[in-house]
Order: sequence, then structure tokens, then C-alpha cells
Amino acid sequence: MKPSIYLDNAATSWPKPEIVYQTMDNYHRNIGANPGRGSSSKTFAAGGVLLDTREALARLFHLSDISRIVFTKNITEAINTVLKGYLDPGDHIIISSMEHNAVTRPLSVLKRSGVEVTVVECAPDGSLYPPDIEKAWQKNTRMVALTSASNVTGTIMPIKEVGSICRERNAVFLLDSAQSAGILPIDVEEENIDILTFTGHKGLFGPQGTGGFYLRPGLEIRSLIEGGTGSLSETIIQPEFLPDKFESGTLNTPGIAGLGAGVGFILETGLSAIRQHELQLMNYLMDGLSEVSGLTLYGPKDSHKKTSVLSLNLAGMECGELSFALDERFGIITRSGLHCAPLAHKTIGTLQQGTCRVSLGYFTTQEEITFFLDAMRKLSTEI
Ligand SMILES: Cc1ncc(COP(=O)(O)O)c(C=O)c1O
Repeated sequence: MKPSIYLDNAATSWPKPEIVYQTMDNYHRNIGANPGRGSSSKTFAAGGVLLDTREALARLFHLSDISRIVFTKNITEAINTVLKGYLDPGDHIIISSMEHNAVTRPLSVLKRSGVEVTVVECAPDGSLYPPDIEKAWQKNTRMVALTSASNVTGTIMPIKEVGSICRERNAVFLLDSAQSAGILPIDVEEENIDILTFTGHKGLFGPQGTGGFYLRPGLEIRSLIEGGTGSLSETIIQPEFLPDKFESGTLNTPGIAGLGAGVGFILETGLSAIRQHELQLMNYLMDGLSEVSGLTLYGPKDSHKKTSVLSLNLAGMECGELSFALDERFGIITRSGLHCAPLAHKTIGTLQQGTCRVSLGYFTTQEEITFFLDAMRKLSTEI
């Protein structure tokens, strides 16, 4: 592979902190057992890995009961489990128009069985006005599902305000934290989050194939799949206690070990240091792009209102062509197209053309952004 500048961290973060690779390698080479299956020292070591990762996640998100953290293979599976496990026919759910297909597609399926869905329109920069959530309220509203930040524009959502509305009105608040976990602070207590869903491979620095959800104590939902958990082996009935109720089949323990190391790295580095680094680079990027002609930038102009995700289009070049040219000629990796969020593209007016998305991470450097800006200047003068 030729060397590349990786600006696609919103899809998956890369590289990971060195400790993540080391931890997974150590798991594969020296532990390797299946947690919860039997009582060997290796099985207990594997169980310890799960425990350590749950504890790290609990510290990061301020979770009170680690047994209510459930591992899944990604956030899409987590969101599917909680939507389908909680909503019944006749229930109403409110979402924003910036949601990812991980939310909208399972809801399209649930709609067929009688779940009502209201999509609250966001502004063209992706921002959500919390009173619009209240306006959409119905007698049968049981849940509000919201992305913490848009994967298309980086727009940060008013989580605390929406959480308060849900708490006052007695509905469950489900947060899709895919784009902000490990980048912005999340506090389930302070922000009244009833169900926190997370993916391991983006800002949390874990490997692909990891994710999960946290269910507030007292909240019960149905499981989607049942089977071997290693607990209550004498019965053919699925355990009702968490996390076993939802962790059927062998977990991705090597991946969860890596996720634990990734979260540990975040806790050690500090969220504010991570955010500061990304903010500084985003300001540098946006300043530099303001001098490139023919560019349209989407999302908030104020970097404090967004994560380090930026969508753009260059006049006279399709976004796919732009991404291809950046990769082919300059070795810069971006993402083009519709980013799995058609409602978001409709909101910002790019449903037809899509966008070229540039997303930074903690390991992105200022030199890399300078190189990207030079490439954009060059491409813009060639059109
Ligand atoms: C906001 C948001 N939600 C959900 C997802 C789905 O993540 P995963 O593929 O890890 O399930 C993504 C991934 O891009 C996302 O950005």
C-alpha cells in the first residue's frame, strides 16, 4: 500500500493507539479463551477482559451499573435491538432529520407493524431546535431517538435539552453516540439518557466489530436473539438478567479487549485534550478552505458547534471524482457520496449530489491538513 493521509475517521478511526494493537495481540496470543464458558483460569482471564472494558466505558460515560452495559457487534445492532425490543405497535417515536440509516431503516420496518414515526426537520446546517421536539409530541410518544452529532455535517445536537424534555414527559431517550463518543463528554445521568448506544471502532479507538448499549436501571426491553451465554446452562430458557439476556453467543472478546484499551487511552489522554486538538485542526482546515475557490462547505460555520467532520463540494467536479482525485493523485483518503443518511442530505440540500466528507481524528496532524489544503487549491485551479 502507498502511504496515505487518512481523513475518514468518521467512518472508522485509524490508526488506533499502539496499546490497542498490543492488547488485542496479547489477547490472541496469551488468553484466547471464551469468557463465561467453564471455570478455567483462561476463561476467568477472558471474563476479566469484559469486566475491564465495561469498567472503562462506565468511567467514560458515567454509568452507574456495569452489568447493564451490553456488547454487540456495532451500534447498528445495538440500535436495532433497543428499538425493536422496546417499541410496540401503536407507539410513537420522534427522531431528527439528521439520523443515520442505523435508526431510520429499523424504524421503516417497525412502521410496517404499526409504530408511528415523526421526523423533526433540522435547519440546513443540521442544527435541531429542541422546542420542535415538543411540538411533535403525541399522547402515544414513548421514545425520542437522536444522534449525538451528525455524521454528515458534524453538527452537535442539543442532547441535554432533548433529554430533559423526555424526562419531563416520561418518554425514553435513546442516544446514538457514534459520532461523539470519545470526542465529546457524555454523561448519562446529567443528560437524562435512558439508552446509550455506542460503536467501538470510531472515536473510542476499538476495532471494527465492537459496540453496545447501556440500559438505564429499571428499563426493560425484549431480546432479539437468544442462545448460549454460558450462564444458567441447566435451563433452555434465556436468562432475564443483564448483560446475559442480550449477549447470546460468543462475544468478540479480542475486539472488546482492544476497545477497553482504546477507552483507557481516552481516559488517560483526557477528552478535553482530544477535543482541543481536533478543534484546533478544524479551525485551521476551515480557515484554509475559505481561500479555495468554488467550494461549498456544509454544516455550522462555528467549529464549537460541530465535531471534526466537514462535508464539502467543489464546483465543476462530482464528489466521487473529487475523492478519487484526492486519493489517486495525493494519497488522501476521504469519503464521497450519501454517507448512509439520506434524510440528512435532504436537510442540507445534497440528496442529489452527495458530499465529499473530510473527518479528522486525534492522530491527524497539522502537516497533513496543510498537504490536503494544497491539494484542494491545486484541484480547484484545474477545473
Ligand atoms: C451517526 C451514526 N450512527 C450509526 C452509525 C453506524 O455505525 P456502525 O456501522 O458502527 O454500526 C454510524 C456510522 O457511520 C454513524 O455515523
